[in-house]
Amino acid sequence: MSKNISNIKVFVSSVIPQIGIDMLNQQGFAVSTWDNLTPIPRDILIEKTKECNALLATLTGKLDADFMNECKHLDVISNFGVGYDNIDITEASKLGIAVGNTPGVLTDATADIAFGLMLAVSRKMFFMHKKIKKGEWKHFTPTQNLGVELKNKTLGVFGLGRIGIEMAKRCKGAYNMNVIYHNRKQNTEAEKLLDAKYVSFDELLAQSDVLSVHSALTEDTKGIFNKAAFEKMKPTSIFINTSRGGAHNEEDLTEALTTNKIWGAGLDVTNPEPMQKDNPLLQMENVAVLPHIGSATIEARNGMSRLAAENIIGFYKNGLVPNLVNPEAMKKS
Ligand code: DGY
Repeated sequence: MSKNISNIKVFVSSVIPQIGIDMLNQQGFAVSTWDNLTPIPRDILIEKTKECNALLATLTGKLDADFMNECKHLDVISNFGVGYDNIDITEASKLGIAVGNTPGVLTDATADIAFGLMLAVSRKMFFMHKKIKKGEWKHFTPTQNLGVELKNKTLGVFGLGRIGIEMAKRCKGAYNMNVIYHNRKQNTEAEKLLDAKYVSFDELLAQSDVLSVHSALTEDTKGIFNKAAFEKMKPTSIFINTSRGGAHNEEDLTEALTTNKIWGAGLDVTNPEPMQKDNPLLQMENVAVLPHIGSATIEARNGMSRLAAENIIGFYKNGLVPNLVNPEAMKKS
């Protein structure tokens, strides 16, 4: 697959850390970039991509079947992110377009945000911070604004993969939490590591004191945390989502919180994104919301930039995308 690199045009459709751009330039690719911090409009994305052989994209661009068919000449798409639900993989594979992602490098950063949200919710931190800003903190009050402790509680992980494991390690280490999980497939290695127990989805809902979502967004997981699910959770439980907002139904979550079906929620991902500033969740005592910053550390974002570039370099230099998500596409080239 070794091609004359200087003839290969790569379009980078978001502003990303320079390391990946430098790597592509050093290899001799003709790199063009979208240099505005606001997401690229779709028509310009299509227009620019049509001029290129490879695309380095982020989750703000929806690369659906229409996009794929407009840009079916593409050799490879490298997604700056571990999640790739913004890309129609079936269509890409059908058209023989290889798709890569950037796993691993953002695991710790994202697990830290899940853990931080859990703690922030359990002690109403965001809400109390807002009280000071609004001038509503008047004096120490022994019976008001009490949180809950996490020691020896049960952590339920929905999707015990890389990030879920790191979240569980933090919870075990800090609070000796008991770990249960639900996955499509049982993860026996992780069970040994964490002394974790595999449970059914309903058992996960019923037994978790903290339920943390770490699964990919797929047809099976879309909206899985809905009214029926929240109704099965403990009234004392905390729901955490750092994966994709599409995994929960936000109206149902709001209702579950207002009717005390669950105790609190911490979200780094919302449905939709961005969350609007008048969203009732932002006013709730036991809720903490962040604007999708799971991978937002210097280390993780540099790592993502590097891996995203390596996918493109690997494709053209030796026909191998190091973090390929659709091997079926490569069979066609
Ligand atoms: C990912 O990698 O999927 C994140 O959500 C983007 O930072």
